[in-house]
Amino acid sequence: MATVNELKDGQTFEGTLWLVSSSVKRTKNGDPYWEGQLQDSTGSISGKVWDSSGGKGGRVKALEPSLAAGSAVKIRARVESFSGALQLNILEAAPAPNASPELFSPKSLRPLKEMVYELDAAIASLKDPDYKRLLSSFREGQQLFGPFCNAPAAKAVHHAWVHGLLEHSLQLARGAKALAPLYPGLDEELVILGCFFHDAGKAWEISALPGFDYTTKGKLLGHIYMGARLVEELCGRMKDFPEEKKLHLTHLVLSHQGERSEGFGSAADPATPEAIFFHHLDNLDAKVQNCFTAIEQAQESGDEFTPPRYPMRKTYYRVRPQGETVNHASAKPARDDSEKGSGPEEKSWPKLW
Ligand SMILES: [Fe+2]
Ligand SMILES: [Fe+2]
Repeated sequence: MATVNELKDGQTFEGTLWLVSSSVKRTKNGDPYWEGQLQDSTGSISGKVWDSSGGKGGRVKALEPSLAAGSAVKIRARVESFSGALQLNILEAAPAPNASPELFSPKSLRPLKEMVYELDAAIASLKDPDYKRLLSSFREGQQLFGPFCNAPAAKAVHHAWVHGLLEHSLQLARGAKALAPLYPGLDEELVILGCFFHDAGKAWEISALPGFDYTTKGKLLGHIYMGARLVEELCGRMKDFPEEKKLHLTHLVLSHQGERSEGFGSAADPATPEAIFFHHLDNLDAKVQNCFTAIEQAQESGDEFTPPRYPMRKTYYRVRPQGETVNHASAKPARDDSEKGSGPEEKSWPKLW
């Protein structure tokens, strides 16, 4: 069975896909046709059902009950090119109720076990006992931690894959460890906590089902409010958690998407060194990853620039300086003990000073 990213114009596709959206529309002549978005773990494609035989509503009427959004469906379809994009002309469809939803979403290329191990190492390295017990309680809360591990970091912008939220959080923690020492006055461990709490609300804001739709709570409350509330709740459950530390961490969550005037949803303007530092770190990771993903997805196209990418509608230069393959697991695991001693001198890097 071909995957969505392997489909070619003119071929017949037979297989099971996840239906993200589904609606019946009318042509200019008033004839009904069905339109929907389908996906597997490699990509997404739009689909149509036409009443080609001239029967009014015949095929559309027959197939529509099998084409419910938010479910898996077994289809036979012709792959066709329309306005420069491929789409599926669906000829037959049947529900596939036993197919498991997680098979139809893209997944982090970093193994979950390895990432949880890295989080545990980050917790173990914390010296501040309050920060340590707070992050430990987050890690131990199974009802909380399970959804956090499965969630994507965003619906589409960056790390939009299963386990993406954990991957993004760990990447930020690595960034914080690397950059914070340049600013000796910075509370590095507060920033590390921010890495894990700032987007934690996305575990409830975005559905883990294929398509990563916003949940009702997500639409009504948003991840910034939910993340801040999580911090307040966890701190409240802990005996004598210092008020000032709670305030700083809550502020970091509320302001992590930058100045309110920029319109990216922050509830407060970053007003501490840690909040300013963290906002730029978060933005850096999201934007670089957005660019890498665009390049990765356009790899086969042969074009110099990627197609405009949601939400900034930006195109990126696809050609890499060394011609290497880019993929979204390009982040390497943190340095481990086996790398000790391999400093710059041993690698004979050029001397800059
Ligand atoms: Fe965020
Ligand atoms: Fe983030």
